[in-house]
Amino acid sequence: MADMTLMEKIVSLAKRRGFIFPGSEIYGGLAGTFDYGPLGVVLKENIERLWLQMFRDDRDDMQGIDAAILMNPKIWEASGHVAGFSDPLVECGKCKRRFRADHLEDTTKCPECGGALGEARQFNMMFKTHAGAAEDDSATVYLRPETAGGIFANYKNVVDSIHPKLPFGIAQIGKAFRNEIAPRDFIFRLRELSQMEVEYFIHPSEWEQAFEEWRKMMHLFAKAIGLPDTMVHELEVADGDRAHYSKRTIDFEFDYPFGRKELWGLAYRTDFDLSAHEKGSGVSQGYLDEETKEKFTPHVIEPSLGVDRTILAVLASAYREDELGDETRTYLALAPKIAPVKAMVSPLLKNKPELVEKARAVRAQLKKVHPAIAWDDNGNIGKRYRRQDEIGTPFCITIDFDTLGENPELKDTITLRHRDTGEQERLTISEAATRIRDAIQ
Ligand code: GAP
Repeated sequence: MADMTLMEKIVSLAKRRGFIFPGSEIYGGLAGTFDYGPLGVVLKENIERLWLQMFRDDRDDMQGIDAAILMNPKIWEASGHVAGFSDPLVECGKCKRRFRADHLEDTTKCPECGGALGEARQFNMMFKTHAGAAEDDSATVYLRPETAGGIFANYKNVVDSIHPKLPFGIAQIGKAFRNEIAPRDFIFRLRELSQMEVEYFIHPSEWEQAFEEWRKMMHLFAKAIGLPDTMVHELEVADGDRAHYSKRTIDFEFDYPFGRKELWGLAYRTDFDLSAHEKGSGVSQGYLDEETKEKFTPHVIEPSLGVDRTILAVLASAYREDELGDETRTYLALAPKIAPVKAMVSPLLKNKPELVEKARAVRAQLKKVHPAIAWDDNGNIGKRYRRQDEIGTPFCITIDFDTLGENPELKDTITLRHRDTGEQERLTISEAATRIRDAIQ
């Protein structure tokens, strides 16, 4: 382990402990795809649920949506993706490997074999497929490259069905697909990814204020999932570097083990999309302010968060190794709110039925606080703690003979061990329940 890089350690732990597996692994994998395992899927759901709570449910001005991944290709023509969602591609004449030209320092020489690189050409990153039995151009559809497309295409449906007053937003979590030239860095650059996106519709005069509000919200979310302030940085994206639809973009960057790279984006998309869809579809995307009688096309602020990059940032910032007692241990200092397992309950000895019975009863009681209370009676207690440390379980609870009343003063108390310090406290069962409840709130 000692000579592994931090990234290798994270990838290894993620696989070993059932967080993230390489996609299609038994057939040698498929570049740019990963599968979430039993613990990874819960971590992902916890992060998504917290985002839904903060970005949608705790607010009075937000609606939800779950749009289809396949959409009429005219949506992507209008949005500019058919013409412009591309990266510059260069190919080596010798080894035939392909690279993104804007990721190379020298665009003439192959970084792998030293061969000559050809001219850069624009490569459209949208995945194409065909709807129905015909495979001709008229049947071409795209897998959406951003979830935003489904939100814009339903803006009018939401207005006509729910009648929200401006400013209001639509939130969506879902898959997006990008045929990245060079997928890499584990789940950082994927071909199949998940996004958590908000399109927030405003009067054009309100854009700066709304931009600031969502900027703050993104920092609050970073804090809530346990990303340290010191690892999250804002980058004001310069004119010329922004996406074609944006008048202002702030990239939220994170200090990944492989360097400071984009985590999330916040963009002022103006009325680019709604106006483009009005033109493309012939359907008005205007909004009538009932009070002022002003009719206008709303502008949009878009906080866009990649789920996979969020998970990578969470794992990278939570990964720890330290000396506890006479052992070196690995643990994940996950925020209890998003940890897949909240607490593990364990009888001190598994061959003592009275301890097992009491421990089962304690677990059942704690499950009323949160269902993710694990059971482990395998191996010695130290090994059980190490296993839970590695998956980021904040608390371990042990039932011993004192719990049963061997020492009458300690009857119905348990030991609660804290993951990060290894410290233990003697608490009543209801005090332990309160500790767990407080930590995950
Ligand atoms: N709707 C706006 C949009 O899609 P983007 O900056 O292209 O903007 C938003 O993507 C977020 O999606 C990024 O900040 C990142 O978190 C995530 N993302 C983009 N491409 C990705 C990829 N290939 N693999 C993993 N996550 C990606």
